[in-house]
This record gives sequence, C-alpha cells and structure tokens, in this order.
Amino acid sequence: MKDFPPVLHPYHSAPHQVSWQSPSNIALVKYWGKYDPQLPANPSVSLTLDQCRTITKVRCEPRPTDAHGTFSFEFLLGGTPKPDFHPKIEGFFQRILAYLPFLTQVHLRIESENTFPHSSGIASSASAMSALALCLLHIARGDEAVSDPSFFQQASYLARLGSGSACRSIWGPVVVWGVTPSIPEASQEFGWSSDRIHPVFADYQDTILLIDQGQKSVSSTVGHQLMVGHPFAEARFKQAHKHLEQMMEVLAQGDLDRFVDLVEREALTLHALMMASNPSFVLMKPATLAVIEKIRAYRKATQHPVCFTLDAGANVHVLYPKSISKTVLQWIQDELVVYCEKESYICDSVGRGSSPING
Ligand code: PMV
Repeated sequence: MKDFPPVLHPYHSAPHQVSWQSPSNIALVKYWGKYDPQLPANPSVSLTLDQCRTITKVRCEPRPTDAHGTFSFEFLLGGTPKPDFHPKIEGFFQRILAYLPFLTQVHLRIESENTFPHSSGIASSASAMSALALCLLHIARGDEAVSDPSFFQQASYLARLGSGSACRSIWGPVVVWGVTPSIPEASQEFGWSSDRIHPVFADYQDTILLIDQGQKSVSSTVGHQLMVGHPFAEARFKQAHKHLEQMMEVLAQGDLDRFVDLVEREALTLHALMMASNPSFVLMKPATLAVIEKIRAYRKATQHPVCFTLDAGANVHVLYPKSISKTVLQWIQDELVVYCEKESYICDSVGRGSSPING
C-alpha cells in the first residue's frame, strides 16, 4: 500500500471513545489458502451482508502503571468479560503494532456485541475484526480522518491482518480481495469495492440456515494451511482467477443463470478441497446435503434462480433476488427449516458496509 503506514496522529492521553458497526460477508468466489502476512493465495469476491453485524466500542484510557505485558486491554462480549478471546486479540495487536504504535501505550476497554447468536456457527471474525480495526484506526487518526477515503482502505488493510475475509466487510455491496489480471485496482492487501454491479444484487437476499451451531471440527486457519502442498492447489488457484473474472461479468450484467451455476460450483469446490486435504476433513452435515438437493429440485421445478453457498462450515446460505422473496421464504419455512438445528435461520440481505456509531 503506497501511502501506508499513514502519518498517525500522536496519541494524547485524554480518554477517547469510538464505536463502529461492521457486517459479515459471504464469499461468492472463495478465498482458501494463504501466505504470510495474511495474503490470499487466490482472489475472492463477496457480498456484504446487512443484518449480521458486530458493534464494537473501544475506550482508550491511560495505561495503568502496574500493567504487565505488551498490551493492556479488557474484552467484553455482550457485556460479559471474555478472557478466552485475549490470545486472538493480542495476536492481532502484534500484527498491527507497526502501524498503530499507540497500542502499547494505552489501556483499551473493548466492548463488542453481535446481532447474531455467537454460537450460531456463523463466522463472526470478519465482522468482529473489521469493527475493531475501524475503532483502533479512528482512535489513532482522529475524527477528521473518518471522512478521508484512505481511512477505509487502511482499515481494510488492518482488518485483513486480523482475519483475511474481514478486509471485505468495510464496504458493500460487492468487494474483491486479491490481485488478478482482470481487475487492475484490486490488491492483495485490502479490499476493493466494485461499482459495476447490476441493481438486482443491491438487495439480494441471503437466508442463512443454521444447520449446525456447534464448534467446527477444523478451523479456517488449519484449512488454509492444508492448501500448502495440496495436490489440487495449483489448479484451484488458476480456476479462482477464471471464476472471479466470470463472476464480475455476471455481477455487472445481472445474469442470474450464470450466477447460480458459478456460486454453487464455488461452494462445492471449497468443500471438495477440504475433503481432498491431507488430513481430509468434512464440514458438511447430512442436513447440508439434504438442503442442497432440495434447493436444486426446487429450482428445477419452479425455474426460480435460488441457489446455495457455503462457508467453511455446515450452514447453508440460500441466495435469491428480492423480487421473489415472499414465495421463496414461504418455501424455506415449509420445506427447509426442518433441517436447521432448533429450526433456526437468519434472514439477511446485501448491505452497504461498515459505519461509525455516534454518541
Ligand atoms: O477469513 P478466514 O481466515 O476466516 O477465511 C475465510 C474462508 C472462507 O470463508 C471459507 C472463504 C471466504 O473467502 O470468506
């Protein structure tokens, strides 16, 4: 990033409090495989969500004289102190310290809440890390910087160092991350928001079926690592470039038949890579496959452009245009909710990205 690290405002010891909300995102072309420092092995593109968000408030106070360790902070989730999150936050602080040197000079009280249930199996790292990155950069650069476009690019850069996919949560509705010959503006280091998006995608619907709300058996971190030396890695990375180019055309033209085809093949490729890793692992559950079959049969019978995508987990994201949302939602309630754990699902749609919360 040419103008990064930025000229940071010197931190002054007066308490300072900021608050940001940032959404989750769902990849259409998946990022799977990375190298240091948290750079993607292939480019990806996602839809930013609207309802699934993290709201984070950070209060910056003088560092207590008796504080131990490099960083002094407390972390609360939904009002409850969560010391088990400290190692992850500390790892993030270590990676961004070169850009935000004030982190060792202060005490931070970080209060987060998610609009979706924490144990729902929905990845909260994208929304959580992007919200935290925005708060910390805001403290470092001051209120005036928030209106500067470089602010969001830098926040995306920092968020990436917390969780790769978090760099795509800063903007909406569609964000690309990773270099690829067809998009000169795209970067390995931060997200890039495309404005060549057909209106049909501006309010696209994502109903998230919570198939399994337990802890995943294999984390994304481990999954990314297993792409090193993976027998299909090279072919996959080449394919992702091609899919990204095709997906950007589809998103610009609003071609829903091609969208359905590409999105589903991407989702299944992600899980095929997991199944072909060494050691192999399967994150889908029987109910995931049952839902996939139902969606394909429904599409065949109705010609409605309803499709699925998957994260690194068992939950199914059902994607469809808003124009048919009433019919599709009724069908989801009648036919698919029975496959969800405790019949839980979340109705979301495409959103506009992160924003500050005043007051
Ligand atoms: O950002 P991470 O390290 O949690 O990895 C995300 C990986 C996928 O969700 C499976 C794909 C993606 O591009 O978001």
